[in-house]
Amino acid sequence: MIKPEFPGFSPDTIYQGDALELLPRLPSGCIDIIVTDPPFAIDFRARRGNYNRTGSRVLEGYREVDAGEYQEFTSRWMSQAFRVLSPRGSIYVFSGWNRLKEVLIGLDQAGFHTINHLIWKFQFGVFTRRRYVTSHYHILYAVKNPRDYTFHKQDHYPEDVWVIPREYWKGRKKTPTKLPCEIVRRILSYSSDPGDIVLDPFLGSGTVALVASEMGRHFIGFEVVPGYFQFALARLAGRAGACTAGKAGEKTGNAEGEN
Ligand SMILES: C[S@@+](CC[C@H](N)C(=O)[O-])C[C@H]1O[C@@H](n2cnc3c(N)ncnc32)[C@H](O)[C@@H]1O
Repeated sequence: MIKPEFPGFSPDTIYQGDALELLPRLPSGCIDIIVTDPPFAIDFRARRGNYNRTGSRVLEGYREVDAGEYQEFTSRWMSQAFRVLSPRGSIYVFSGWNRLKEVLIGLDQAGFHTINHLIWKFQFGVFTRRRYVTSHYHILYAVKNPRDYTFHKQDHYPEDVWVIPREYWKGRKKTPTKLPCEIVRRILSYSSDPGDIVLDPFLGSGTVALVASEMGRHFIGFEVVPGYFQFALARLAGRAGACTAGKAGEKTGNAEGEN
């Protein structure tokens, strides 16, 4: 696979730093697809007991954004996302329902055209007493040019509700909000080609970079928290947290934060 080159960044590398500072340094149009799960702005605390996990195995330090600043934060990174995407490029953004409004406004303001509003249905949301248990995420699928974008139809009838279990990581070091590899695989199969450059500006444990590399895509990613960055590096080097099949059985909980 020929490695594309551009100034200041090397494909197949992840960088520790603030996405709001690093994104503006990427050249315009150099990225084929962005897949990202940005911070939620819901005062998410990584080691809360009600996530039914052994706290000591969950890496601390997740960087959150204040709710009052979330619109500005979202609009800033999304306008850069639009700039760095190639003309046929697409973006997939994960969002809980709590901050969906800001994400939709950000995409609109940046100039994206929304193609689908996908729902990811997962198992084991946080236990509740006086409300329904949140057991879905939104995934906004948007493109720069609605008349010309990459879409490789894989199924005859590709529905917009995806039932994909969270992965089972019992007894291992973990970050609290890891995406299942299967969901990233599905996205990259539909909306990218081998050799494409995949960007995740909010890497967390590095799932997007890991799956991109497994699928013969190039990747670039950013993560501001040193411990998470190191964990993502270790995963990419094969020293931690490979992709595993999701299994029912672990009460992983979600990041909605309110019971
Ligand atoms: C929801 S998590 C991503 C989880 C990831 N998809 C995974 O599978 O592990 C969001 C990540 O963004 C990081 N983050 C927050 N603000 C950031 C910023 N300004 N620049 C880069 N990373 C940031 C957080 O520390 C957190 O690890």
